[in-house]
Amino acid sequence: MSAAIQTNRNTFLDTGLALFDTAPFKVADLSPETVRFGRKEMDLALHEMPGLAALRAAYLGQKPLDGARIMGSLHMTIQTAVLIETLVELGAQVRWVSCNIFSTQDHAAAATVVGPAASGGTPDAPKGVPVYAWKGETLAEYWWCTLQAICFGEAQGPTLIVDDGGDATLLVHQGVEFEKSGTIPDPSTADSDEYRVVLALLHAVRAEKGDRFWHAIASTIRGVSEETTTGVHRLYQRLEQGNLLFPAINVNDSVTKSKFDNLYGCRHSLVDAIMRATDVMLSGKRALVCGFGDVGKGSVQSLRGQQARVAVTEIDPICALQACMLGLDVLTIEDAIAQGFDVYVTATGNKNVITAQHMAAMKHNAIVCNIGHFDNEIDMAGLEKMAAQGLVEKTTIKPQVHEWRFTKTTHGPDGGGHAIIILAEGRLVNLGCATGHPSFVMSNSFTNQVMAQLDLHRNAEAYGITVTVLPKSLDEQVARYHLGHFGAKLTTLSTEQADYIGVPPQGPYKPDHYRY
Ligand SMILES: NC(=O)c1ccc[n+]([C@@H]2O[C@H](COP(=O)([O-])OP(=O)(O)OC[C@H]3O[C@@H](n4cnc5c(N)ncnc54)[C@H](O)[C@@H]3O)[C@@H](O)[C@H]2O)c1
Repeated sequence: MSAAIQTNRNTFLDTGLALFDTAPFKVADLSPETVRFGRKEMDLALHEMPGLAALRAAYLGQKPLDGARIMGSLHMTIQTAVLIETLVELGAQVRWVSCNIFSTQDHAAAATVVGPAASGGTPDAPKGVPVYAWKGETLAEYWWCTLQAICFGEAQGPTLIVDDGGDATLLVHQGVEFEKSGTIPDPSTADSDEYRVVLALLHAVRAEKGDRFWHAIASTIRGVSEETTTGVHRLYQRLEQGNLLFPAINVNDSVTKSKFDNLYGCRHSLVDAIMRATDVMLSGKRALVCGFGDVGKGSVQSLRGQQARVAVTEIDPICALQACMLGLDVLTIEDAIAQGFDVYVTATGNKNVITAQHMAAMKHNAIVCNIGHFDNEIDMAGLEKMAAQGLVEKTTIKPQVHEWRFTKTTHGPDGGGHAIIILAEGRLVNLGCATGHPSFVMSNSFTNQVMAQLDLHRNAEAYGITVTVLPKSLDEQVARYHLGHFGAKLTTLSTEQADYIGVPPQGPYKPDHYRY
């Protein structure tokens, strides 16, 4: 995208879409077959999501979210569709977008728009939830979708946000901030294509709605529950800087979220994505995982499950020592490149972990992907700059799988340029090239999300402007909901035993600082 972004009063950038559209939803395909496929997969998913099923049963006939207007910005997958319909069953009015341009499952979006059988919705007369999401959005379309989902009516915002990565929260905060300062920076000064689009959107909104629009939207928002590590970092930063506008619940750091979804979800979905994308045999290959946090640990297990020879990079001595205790080599990325590693996976939540220079030195046909954060863990912008200079050429192998051939290197075939394979354009590989985490693990995450939304709806003002983790009793409840699925039977503490270890017989069983 060029720096010379023009805003147009009628349509937003090159989307061809009115800035404030009247479309009740926008998805890729509402054909009966797509809707049927989505609904069938949602039915199967619900069976694997006992936490959400338990909440539906617990609140049957009640509407504890009555009056809530929930805007969600979270990968529009089958599992998310089950989350959305749980929020609706609990009484909320919901609007939804994906939090990633590649992660929407179009059949999930379609079935969610049409609604469950009981709603009587059909593809011709949908009665479900307004979803604005399709797989393969442009950045301009992505931010357009986010704006549509935020607007529940003329200058009426949501009361609550479910966010994943913090984009919806960011848009509202930036909108308010620039209305306060009176100026919106020129999009051409942005340091990334994505931020350029955000600034262009804010300019376009101001041109059409004046400079109190975001204040009105923010004034109705009572709280946000944030799904992931990176979004949570952004919230704590805002809290420290004193510019957080509403209370936030950090869902990521519920034990039953980050120690399950980030770990076991990535264990399931990393190799699934690499194999769907490339069909390359991973056994015996040398794979480097950058970052040995929760996602990195799951990624290592995933690759080791295929008998790849795995090493990690880390900045944190504790995580590095953990890796050593599992028999993993801890290297620098430069060492790994020099040793000719075959597969590189970023899982740090940091930026420029793999630079364009690193990729220029990798072995021929090395596979490079990111399961951590945004498209800047791998320096895609640097690679694009090299492409503009003719130093590298990009070829699409299939959607979300690209060969980048370096024209000037000499360690490729016959002493010519080498190539590398980049998956999902440097964005989350498990959502771009596979279908994300499986239902069961997402049930844990989303049960936390629903509990967070319920509590914010009941009590948001009692939180004050804080970022809070759900109490351990709820974390334990989430786990309890899922044990029956395995036929697991808990041992009951006797009063004598409970007194001896100093915990209530019904829990919580661990102090808050316990690390699991
Ligand atoms: N793809 C998915 O499905 C998925 C799921 C959950 C979380 N995430 C995202 O994955 C990222 C990581 O999440 P996490 O929960 O593992 O976080 P984490 O904080 O537990 O782990 C990140 C690790 O990376 C290390 N690190 C930071 N900079 C580094 C660098 N330059 N080189 C090497 N190591 C470095 C940190 O020390 C830390 O141990 C976040 O952006 C999060 O939002 C993705």
